[in-house]
Amino acid sequence: MTALLEATGVGVRFGGVRALDDVAVTVRGGEVCGLIGPNGAGKTTLFDVLSGIRRPDRGRVLLDGVDITRRSPVWRARHGVRRTFQRQQLFGQLTVEDNLVVAQEWRRGPVAARRARAAELLRVCGLERLAGTYAGVLPVGQARMAELARALADPPRLLLLDEPASGMSAEERGRLAAVVRRVAEEEGCAVLLVEHHVSFVMELCARVVVLDLGRVLAEGPAEAVRADPRVRAAYLGSAGSVSGPAECDPAVDR
Ligand SMILES: Nc1ncnc2c1ncn2[C@@H]1O[C@H](COP(=O)(O)OP(=O)(O)OP(=O)(O)O)[C@@H](O)[C@H]1O
Ligand SMILES: [Mg+2]
Repeated sequence: MTALLEATGVGVRFGGVRALDDVAVTVRGGEVCGLIGPNGAGKTTLFDVLSGIRRPDRGRVLLDGVDITRRSPVWRARHGVRRTFQRQQLFGQLTVEDNLVVAQEWRRGPVAARRARAAELLRVCGLERLAGTYAGVLPVGQARMAELARALADPPRLLLLDEPASGMSAEERGRLAAVVRRVAEEEGCAVLLVEHHVSFVMELCARVVVLDLGRVLAEGPAEAVRADPRVRAAYLGSAGSVSGPAECDPAVDR
């Protein structure tokens, strides 16, 4: 299968800081790919480039073979590029249900269809009981789930999730994993998922890309990446201080 997302040679500078340097990432339709790396590695900046919020200084972004590097965030959203944010971006003054309806507002057609889709998403994401709750008062885990539901309002082709599990309970993480898996496997969506909760990433993602200081440090099957001494060194500061896999998780789960 050809890659749905193919980003190559991506570079972004903030003054003297090279946030991204010659970064390449590829995700196929139906694949859930993990993106991990220490704080400041460039993960969110890469998402900003992929979603069109930030124009890269260098490099190209292809969606299903089409160059979208210069396309706006709105264009990309309407062509199936959807994301969630590290800092939640729900409309706090609207109910959870209305957040999901508003996300479909650009499409023409009857409101009833948008409400029906919202109801379906509430069910899929386990949020039915919260349909009428103002999004601004949701606890973090539920707010993150509502953000995921909103990102799915129109079936995405490429879904970018920035730390979706942070603040979630183990039960919520289980639901999150199930929803993400379903979207990828049944709808053929390409998912790129940033998460510090490494055991969650390793379980959900067959393939993992590791960023460090703006560069791709490692890439491959989850287990190989987890065992890579360079990855451990990036997280723990010194490869020599790591004695076993068990120590890898606490260092990066937070
Ligand atoms: N708007 C900005 N202006 C200046 N520097 C920035 C800006 N956004 C990010 N940076 C810098 O770019 C680098 C990458 O930041 P980024 O937020 O992409 O990292 P991250 O991997 O998402 O980190 P975290 O795990 O903490 O979310 C950091 O050095 C950061 O300080
Ligand atoms: Mg970030």
